[in-house]
Amino acid sequence: MKKVLLCPPQYFTIEYEINPWMHIENTVDQDKVKKEFDGLIRIYKELGVQMLEIPQEKGLPDMVYAANFGNPIGNMFIKANFKYSQRKKESDFAKAFFETLHFTIKELPDDIAFEGQGDLLTIGGRWFYGYGKRSDKKAKPLLEEIIGSEIVDFRLINPYYYHLDTCFLPLDAKTVAINPRSFEEEGLEKVAHYFPNVITVSEEDNSLIACNAVVVEKTIVIARGISQKLKDDFAKYGYTTRETAMDEFRKGGGSVKCLTLEFH
Ligand code: ARG
Repeated sequence: MKKVLLCPPQYFTIEYEINPWMHIENTVDQDKVKKEFDGLIRIYKELGVQMLEIPQEKGLPDMVYAANFGNPIGNMFIKANFKYSQRKKESDFAKAFFETLHFTIKELPDDIAFEGQGDLLTIGGRWFYGYGKRSDKKAKPLLEEIIGSEIVDFRLINPYYYHLDTCFLPLDAKTVAINPRSFEEEGLEKVAHYFPNVITVSEEDNSLIACNAVVVEKTIVIARGISQKLKDDFAKYGYTTRETAMDEFRKGGGSVKCLTLEFH
């Protein structure tokens, strides 16, 4: 059974701009935010996902994007080091939360940025890491040491897809969906090397941050509005989708996966 940590939005607004989706003049409709979050929870409930919650702290508007807190792996929590000062405190609250669950906390040196499950993903026993926009390449060997496994890395080159989980959606050990314009040639070669089945996501679907989705067995929980073509591509590999509105959360540059910290 999949287990996740969510941070119910209480103070979600756009107060600063740290990615190209964010515009401080963009107001957030709090009613819609609540509906979008409730919609996500309803789907997870129906899919049998076990949900834990951490309260959002005032003054930390991006805390709703729980995927960036770090990586819970077994009984260990690797705490994130946020790149931007505006988000740094979030991982202290996350650390305290995992301490209450009696997790062993692992931390990287302060000067090495690492944004948790936004940039470090696992599938089929392999680990994948995105760097260059938020997380530092320097974190990779330290993370390999902590998790006791090699990591396949990608330099991310597209400012709109600044975390790996915005442009790389592994469905299973053989299948991944990607935004091809987020990777260098070398990265695309690595993707093809590790995944026999690569779904190329269109610009239109990428404008919904379609790769920012959560896979629950054979169901992909994803933003409402994705194309029939993408659904057909998922169906080829046996996946169906559950779609939910993410328009407000996209104003902060995130979607389903950003809101969801998965336990591994
Ligand atoms: N506004 C947030 C930021 O720029 C969005 C985080 C999205 N999270 C993610 N896992 N991609 O940091």
